Amino acid sequence: MSNMSKRIIVISGPNLNLLGVREKDVYGSVTLAEIGAAVTKEAERLGMEADFVQSNHEGEIIDKLHEARGKYDVIIMNPGAYTHYSIAIRDAVKAVEIPCIEIHLSNIHAREEFRSKSVIAPVCVGQICGFGADSYLIALKAASLL
Ligand code: DQA
Repeated sequence: MSNMSKRIIVISGPNLNLLGVREKDVYGSVTLAEIGAAVTKEAERLGMEADFVQSNHEGEIIDKLHEARGKYDVIIMNPGAYTHYSIAIRDAVKAVEIPCIEIHLSNIHAREEFRSKSVIAPVCVGQICGFGADSYLIALKAASLL
């Protein structure tokens, strides 16, 4: 598929609306709005279109995944803490049959043990984590290669 026609949805999960305020030592001082602006710019540079959404609610994230059918070619998702236990989000990713790239700002494998397990990653194309806000931009590059 040519990138010109590639439509991407970037979904950020719970507490990510507090980026820039929350645990700055772990997540940095960049805000989600700044990441959104960088994502729009980078997607354009790569010749793609990206929509950027955030929700603190599991069901709403599942609705957004369902609504992505027929509208988007690739999903980039930072599921926040849902990463570690939401079988419902995992099932939604599997159900919609749209390639999904899981991302995290922090390296979830280098933190508390409970964070190293992702129930979502096995139904994703791959996982990018540990590059701070750049994880979002690296995922766009990965999406451009799919
Ligand atoms: C996170 C990692 C998760 O473990 C955590 O619950 C988050 C953010 C990250 O981007 O590093 O909310 O997804």
